[in-house]
Amino acid sequence: MGKAKHVVANHDPIAAPNALHHHWLPFTGNREFKSDPRLFVRAEGMYFWNHKGDKILDGCSGLFTCAAGHCRAEISEAVARQLNQLDYTPSFLRSHPLSFELAERIADLTPADLNRVFFVNSGSEAIDTAMKICSAYHRARGEGQRYMFVSRERAYHGVNLGGTSLSGMVKNRESFGPSLPGVVHIRHTWLPENRFVKGQPDHGAELAEDLQRMVDLYGGSNIAACFIEPIAGSTGVLVPPKGYLQRIREICDEHRILLVFDEVICGFGRTGKAFGAQSFGVIPDVMTMAKAMTNGAQPMGAVAVREHVHDTIVEAAPRGAVELFHGYTFSAHPAACAASLAALDIYEREDLFSHAAKLSDYFLDSVLTLADLSVVSDVRGFGLIAGFDLLPDSVRGARGHEVQKRLFDAGLHLKTTGDAGILAPPLISEKCDIDEMCGILRDVLGEYAAQ
Ligand SMILES: Cc1ncc(COP(=O)(O)O)c(C=O)c1O
Repeated sequence: MGKAKHVVANHDPIAAPNALHHHWLPFTGNREFKSDPRLFVRAEGMYFWNHKGDKILDGCSGLFTCAAGHCRAEISEAVARQLNQLDYTPSFLRSHPLSFELAERIADLTPADLNRVFFVNSGSEAIDTAMKICSAYHRARGEGQRYMFVSRERAYHGVNLGGTSLSGMVKNRESFGPSLPGVVHIRHTWLPENRFVKGQPDHGAELAEDLQRMVDLYGGSNIAACFIEPIAGSTGVLVPPKGYLQRIREICDEHRILLVFDEVICGFGRTGKAFGAQSFGVIPDVMTMAKAMTNGAQPMGAVAVREHVHDTIVEAAPRGAVELFHGYTFSAHPAACAASLAALDIYEREDLFSHAAKLSDYFLDSVLTLADLSVVSDVRGFGLIAGFDLLPDSVRGARGHEVQKRLFDAGLHLKTTGDAGILAPPLISEKCDIDEMCGILRDVLGEYAAQ
């Protein structure tokens, strides 16, 4: 295949034949994409622009990342300033002031005493880091036999080996051989009787008893942690039934199982408060976060843990010794810290979490109006995230994929998983943006209703 070096020089990859071959895109049908690429070349506020010059409304905050809208100058300027002053610091045995400032700001946002913050570069790294912290914690307190992790069907916890094992999505697991031993899955919380419910459904708290069944089957003293997304996001927005998370917390407490909330999507205002933990009134022991942490402008994630979890691990190590043999070359990268601090400033200054809470009713009511389309078999949501299911075509997921392309061509970017569509507009959205989003959805989905 030709090297097409000139392509790099003129930044116009689709002008040159074969120039798309080298980049192997993740979670993408590469052959289909390269025959009809959908490239973004610019973004601002609520919109992307593609390489053909079309304006596309961002119905998914990029990928749950750009909560304050795109291309916020405050963030890009902070990153540029930081890179010009101190481009890189190793985070082993060294650090820089912004990492401490950011950890303190994150601790201000987290509930209770989830005040100790370990920096990583993605949600997947946050998950694998959280698993290792849970294991290290139990070992430090003399219960190293706790080798098991409980997760859920239809969970998505990223793609590293730990997260792949925890995830409850067949396609993300089946090609990769046996995953981590000791990971078991309880049922997801989608129930047919909860279809078309706005907010937390009434039915399903009893599904939390599945955790008790795992305790009864494997022994609670063998389980290190239970991983839960407050709202399961990527598999179609499964809102926790009323009382469900509270009951999970009780069972964890009874058996000294650590409760980990994966807040990679829910974090930073998506549910109308800083984290899902606050919106649902349940305090976990460990929280993972990423995505909107930098408004998507730099890769970054973090794990926040309760003080006693941190202290137990740290105090178990001899003085002067490394306490946790874990970390990444780019942990707490200065440019990512600068981006995150600037993003948190915007969230606070513009009161975006409250704005999301105020807009939520309008957003959810608007998405629920799609219920009258015959192709739509469920709509659900909470805060500024909603999911809808489409009746499947003969091949599962084919319709969702096609709808995603048609919506893009009609001017709306969203995420689909199988036959579910996921909407998570930027927190800066106004009613007119919601109207535009739902108008495009109605036009495109209406065509299926008529078929
Ligand atoms: C809940 C959850 N956890 C973890 C991840 C993985 O994050 P990343 O893609 O940054 O590795 C995601 C990504 O969508 C997620 O939604």
